[in-house]
Amino acid sequence: MKKQKKKSFFSVADNQKTLHKNLEFTATEQYKLLRANLSFTLPENDGCNIIGVTSSMRGEGKSTTAVNLSYVLAETNKNVLLIDGDLRIPSVAKKMRIKNAPGFTDLLRGAEEIDIEDFKSPFLRNWYIIPAGTLPPNPSELLGSKRMEKTLAELSEKFDYIIIDLPPVNIVSDALAVSKFINGMIVVIREEYTEKRELETCFRQLRLSNVNVLGCVMNETKSEKSYYSKYRYKRYYKYYKSYGNYDSASKR
Ligand SMILES: Nc1ncnc2c1ncn2[C@@H]1O[C@H](COP(=O)(O)OP(=O)(O)OP(=O)(O)O)[C@@H](O)[C@H]1O
Ligand SMILES: [Mg+2]
Repeated sequence: MKKQKKKSFFSVADNQKTLHKNLEFTATEQYKLLRANLSFTLPENDGCNIIGVTSSMRGEGKSTTAVNLSYVLAETNKNVLLIDGDLRIPSVAKKMRIKNAPGFTDLLRGAEEIDIEDFKSPFLRNWYIIPAGTLPPNPSELLGSKRMEKTLAELSEKFDYIIIDLPPVNIVSDALAVSKFINGMIVVIREEYTEKRELETCFRQLRLSNVNVLGCVMNETKSEKSYYSKYRYKRYYKYYKSYGNYDSASKR
């Protein structure tokens, strides 16, 4: 049997918010660590890596993680695309102070006026950001559709990484619908916020859908002292192991 890649667990320091521009040094370093760890947990793949970012509930830091992760990946000169896949309550456009439409849903419906170059960010030449676009009546169906598969396949030709910011697993099925088209999923946990029972439900859903969970990001940890972080690492890692340790073959 093929040896399973080790799942990992990352901690993101406190006192930082969303943006690439004004992150604290410690927080920036944590995102770089996340980037480094990803290279060990991603399935071997010469092409584009498509990574979803989700969590159990609202407000745990999915969009923050997706924005900052895509940024640190782009810093390595790889071509990186961030997609706002939360087609219900999108937030990437707001965080980045760009227009929410046209965006991903418009790309999905094949709008001819859409050119991927229009989504090039002004911050790094190889960092592209697609906001959610015109909100559809049926996000879950759209995200799990053939059109979605085709669009991601086309985008994969141009990018080394595609990071998709997704809604929470316990509230809507959108993240699970997308999971069949991605290489792996990152689950964000917010310290002193995420409830154990919700996390259990989240991992149960991910397991049932055979999602390849790459690891968890512990967001907004309260201490930057390493011994304390270790303690938290262990506490949650034990918990994570019991729910996250399942066979999850690469989807692509
Ligand atoms: N590490 C952090 N430190 C401080 N504030 C944070 C941190 N992470 C996220 N936030 C703030 O918490 C709020 C929620 O974060 P974010 O939008 O990333 O969560 P989300 O999981 O995407 O939420 P939703 O489920 O609504 O999409 C935002 O105001 C964000 O700026
Ligand atoms: Mg969000």
